[in-house]
Formats: sequence, C-alpha cells, structure tokens
Amino acid sequence: MERRELLRLLAAAGALPLLAPLARAAGTDDWQAQFEAASTPWKSGFATPPGDLPLTRATVRGRFPDAVAGTLFRIGPAGHDLGGERYQHWFDGDGMVHRFVIDGADVRHRGRYVATPKRTAEVKAGRRLFEAFGTMPPGVEPPTSPDSINVANTSVLPMQGEVLALWEGGSATRLDARTLDTLGVKTWRPDFAGMPFSAHPKVDPDGTVWNFGVSAAQSMLALYEIAPDGTLRRAAVVPVADLPMVHDFAVTERHLVFLMPPLVYDGKRKEAGASFLDAHVWRPELEMRALVIDKKNWERRQLLVLPAGFLFHVGNAWEEDTPGGTLIHIDYVRSDNADSVFTTNREVMRARRVKSNDPHLTVATLNLGTGRATQTALAQEAEFPRIDPRRVGLRHRQVVHATQIRRDLPGFGAVARTDVETGRSQRFSYGAQAIVEEHVFVPDGSKPGWILGTVLDFGRQKTVLSCFAADHLGAGPVAQATLPYALPLGLHGAFVKA
Ligand SMILES: [Fe+2]
Repeated sequence: MERRELLRLLAAAGALPLLAPLARAAGTDDWQAQFEAASTPWKSGFATPPGDLPLTRATVRGRFPDAVAGTLFRIGPAGHDLGGERYQHWFDGDGMVHRFVIDGADVRHRGRYVATPKRTAEVKAGRRLFEAFGTMPPGVEPPTSPDSINVANTSVLPMQGEVLALWEGGSATRLDARTLDTLGVKTWRPDFAGMPFSAHPKVDPDGTVWNFGVSAAQSMLALYEIAPDGTLRRAAVVPVADLPMVHDFAVTERHLVFLMPPLVYDGKRKEAGASFLDAHVWRPELEMRALVIDKKNWERRQLLVLPAGFLFHVGNAWEEDTPGGTLIHIDYVRSDNADSVFTTNREVMRARRVKSNDPHLTVATLNLGTGRATQTALAQEAEFPRIDPRRVGLRHRQVVHATQIRRDLPGFGAVARTDVETGRSQRFSYGAQAIVEEHVFVPDGSKPGWILGTVLDFGRQKTVLSCFAADHLGAGPVAQATLPYALPLGLHGAFVKA
C-alpha cells in the first residue's frame, strides 16, 4: 500500500484522532495531589525526575565479571507529571534512557530524557499539549501525526553505534549511544516515515532484525526486515481483521509469530473522547489468535486459535518439522484478561496497589499441519521474560524473568530462571522492600553466562544493579552496584559488550 493511501486511511479511520473532543474523565484531576499525599514507600518508582541525571559513580560490592564489561541501556516512562498535572497511566510518561557503564569494580550511571518533539514542546509550554496512551489531559491539541505524541519510553535497540528508543505507536527515536543525545526519528524508507515501529524487535542469530507495527484503526500490520548493517531490506503493510493491541511477537527460523489477545480498538470510543487505551474493548469471543507469517513470503499467513487471554511479552519461539506437520513452540507471559493494563498499571500513578490477574509463564504449541494449538501454564508467575540472545528463534530451555507477586507491592520481588521444558526454576528474592525490573541474560562464550538487572530498593530509596551467575542464581549476586538515588521504574533494556 502506498504511504499516501495509508495516511489517508489512518486519518479517515481515526488512528490520528484529528477530531477527538477535548475530554477527561470526571473526578480524576486530583491525581497529582493523591500521589503527593500518599505515604506509600514504593511511590518513588513512579516519581518524575526533575531533569537529566548527570554521570554518577555507583558504590560497588564485589566485582562485575569480564563478560559483563560493557553498557546496559535501560529505558522507561519517567516524565509522569508536568505543570501540576499527572498522567493517569504508567505507560504515558516521557521516556528516560539510562546508561550503566560496567567495568569490573567501576559502574557509572547517567540518565537522560529522550528529547522527543512532544517532550520538547510540552516542557517549553510548561504543560501537557498532547494526549497520551492512557490519559486525555484537558485542553490538548489533536495530534498531527503518531510521532507528535511519541514518548519513546518502552525499549531500546542498539544498532550501528546508535541506540534506538522505541515506542509502539510511532517511529523509533535515534540516540547517540555515548552521550544519549537525541538525534531525531528513524525513517527506514521515505514511504514508511512515521509508521509504527514496535518496541520488541527480534534479532536473528545472523543479525537480521525483524519488527512490526500496529495501525489499530485500520487493522493494518506493518512488517520490517532489516539487514545486520541497519539498512531496510523489506517493509510492507498487511491487513489483519480485528487486529488487536499487540506489544511483542516472536520469530522462528522460518516464521514470524503474533499472539493476538482479544483487546481490539474501537474507533467510535476514540471519537467519543476516550484515550487510546480506553478505546480498546475486551472481546473474548475472538479468543487468542496466533498469526503465523512466512518470513520469506509475507503473503503466506496462517491463523490458529488459543483460549482467550492477554499478554504483553513473549519469551521465545522455535520450530521443528514432525511427520504430523511443523510445530512451533512459543512461550509467553499469559493473563486471563487485560485488567492489569486498565487498572494495576493505572492506579500506581496515584500510588495505589490494585491487584489483577496474575500472569504466568505459558508454553504453547502451534501445529501448522493440523491447524491446532494447545498450551500449558507453568507454575511461575512471570513478567519481563528474556533469553540468551544467541537462541532467538532457536530451541531454548532457559527463560530469565521477574517473579514473586506480592499483595502489598506493584510488580515483582524476585528474579528467576525457568526451564520451559521441565518447569524447573531457581530464583533469588530481593526481600520485602524491593521491586524487580527486567533482568537480561549476558552470554559468556560456552560458559553458563550471567544475569544482569536492576531493582528499586525503596527501603533505602536507591536503585541497585546486580549480576548473578546464571547457573547459581539462587546463591545471590556476585556483584552489586548501588546508585545514590532511586530511578523511576523502567521497562526494558539491552546489554552491549565493551
Ligand atoms: Fe514490553
């Protein structure tokens, strides 16, 4: 499809809600006051750093192994309030990118807001000018393009000496990997300027990058194939009926795999003034559809069906040919419904804990021969699944993930490493006053490798970076670096070896 035609459709169908009325939910203009009045000790995880965080040396206990000498980039929503107004959803905030430079007993941190056009304009104005994922601030201007509301707050993709800050509703934002200077949006091809480029690209073992983007209002799925040198090989949009909110996907050696929860955009709700999130409707009759697309020929697509459920994240997928047909094995973090995105991830913005359906690591098998799909939930509560980056699309066993949901806290208290074939799992609990962020697996040649990740220690109001031996996770960290401050809780990261 021509970009001109796509943009016309986007505007006509309301992806760019040009005529959205100025609206806000009644009685919700006191979120800032409620957040400030709350005595909840963990609320610093959702506080707004007033500005960039200058280079700071952490206090290091132990010594980080040579294999993790390098840089851990992390990103998350951080600009939650502005001009006395507070966003009403965790995912709304302007992105702040973090750079942890690790060298033995020396760890330094720096954090910078991504200088998106939206943030730059709003900071200059001293107030919100645009709508966000889950909030419609009063008096906002209609967005002029998806990138006019891009907050670049979800994930990072290191590429060719730069870091791309990702947000699933619009373009990737280019950052200087050393200074974290914002360099502008990434345009893969002129006719794809401004198209959504999602936050969970997958990198094949040969360096090929695959990604997608959802144009919810048109039910159009954009697909990208990017060569290891960072040049675009292919991009196209394909129609998918009732295309829902899709946050993550998987690749196998021969396929792209999309698990599509039944959370579907309703343009009428958007026209009536709902936020993008609240324009989505839970339609369990659609079940969880698994869309499998041939990597080489995007016209070859197959749909399979699993019971209705919700997910943000996929661990990995791999395929095997059997006499009964090709089987795709995929593990993901499944919840029975999408309550967490509507309630839990919203209420934290006024420092309230509202528990929703517990997400569990789940292993599904898609039989492309019979068209049947089955799945089994493992015992582990989970989020933020990560695997050995060398095993993307290949058979893997170990998934690193957050675990241990607690009733009194948002998020998770422990990091775990689970064998998705046996269900065996080991974990390390950070104790009663910590909230675990995503941990990544760092390979070390043929050795078992390392697990690297951060926690918010809200008892001490500090953020702590820990490194574990992957095969002795339960033994606790081999090294820890403690910052003299607490960072806002982030979403995803990527490690780049020195
Ligand atoms: Fe994510």
